[in-house]
Amino acid sequence: MLEEPNMTGRIRPCGGLDRERAQAMRAALLCWFDRERRELPWRAAAGESANPWAVLVSEVMLQQTTVATAAQRFPAFMARFPTPAALASSSLEEVLVAWQGLGYYRRARLLHACARAVVAAHGGRVPDTPEQLRALPGLGAYSAFAVAAIAFNRPVLPVDGNVARVGARLLGLSMPAHRVRATVARELAMLAEGPRPGDLAQALIELGALICRPRAPACDRCPLQRFCCAAESGRPEDFPLPSQRKTLPVRSTMAFFLQRPDGAILFRRRPEEGLLGGMIELPSSPWGSERSLEEHLAHAPASIAWRPLPGEVRHRFTHLELRVLLACGTLEENDVAGLWLTPADLAEVPLPTLTRKLLVQCGVVLPAR
Ligand code: ADE
Repeated sequence: MLEEPNMTGRIRPCGGLDRERAQAMRAALLCWFDRERRELPWRAAAGESANPWAVLVSEVMLQQTTVATAAQRFPAFMARFPTPAALASSSLEEVLVAWQGLGYYRRARLLHACARAVVAAHGGRVPDTPEQLRALPGLGAYSAFAVAAIAFNRPVLPVDGNVARVGARLLGLSMPAHRVRATVARELAMLAEGPRPGDLAQALIELGALICRPRAPACDRCPLQRFCCAAESGRPEDFPLPSQRKTLPVRSTMAFFLQRPDGAILFRRRPEEGLLGGMIELPSSPWGSERSLEEHLAHAPASIAWRPLPGEVRHRFTHLELRVLLACGTLEENDVAGLWLTPADLAEVPLPTLTRKLLVQCGVVLPAR
């Protein structure tokens, strides 16, 4: 364990990062991390070395899923696919089922391809350089650096949104959030050039999540307060400048919940390419502008008396907001061809979150994930 650096020393908060300053910040951060680190299922215990495959899987999960959800889903996923070889030899469908609840299924497809590449090109062992990691499917620059640092103690600094915010405040960068990453990566790179770069990376990520939060940062509990331009300014929340959040385009559709007398529900499979590629969903009218009930019903999968449900289900994708009206219908005979699944069958297929929301709205009790 590191000694707590001299907390009474006067430090000019807004100086550039020289070796001495980097050393003092590193010591303060690691000391804080040793005290405050959260136990997370993919995180090695203090002093133990990390399991690279666990770190890689966790980083892919954390790309678009909160720590709380990832922590809940991670143990079962790892028990099912404990090694790259175990995942590589499984079918994509099995991986997609195990990915349920984590959303953004494209990542599961890429993780499957990643495991196959690890087996084919690296003998089943996760490679240990940022360049080799970056070449794997599903790992962008941030994730490759995170795995290289956390799993292999490579002296690189992964800068995600949280670390960018911490860095922007430390350095007093008054620029929009989406532009700070590159500056922070360059200006703080020296922080990684010392002992325990993996813990240092996790400490910065943890600091962004627990202390240097977007709103109401807890500067009085921050180990870097005396180095921080934003804290010195008295208005830490003003750094970085807010990114202009795009208002998402809105699309409307009507989904059709059709049941057979035996209780089976009609689904269809989405095209392999594109949003929710290859996943199943309820049949629906094409996504577009608002339309009349009659225009939606022209796309219904059967000519029967449909019962529109009141209200709508809203779902945000990264690039659009979808508003879904629902209509329910029941067949009198089992005479419509298609992909019919009973509620019990739904335990075996991956369902997008939107489809789950729609089924729940129609009163279906879904099997626990
Ligand atoms: N978010 C992204 N990577 C993370 C990690 N390794 N620990 C906690 N949160 C994260």
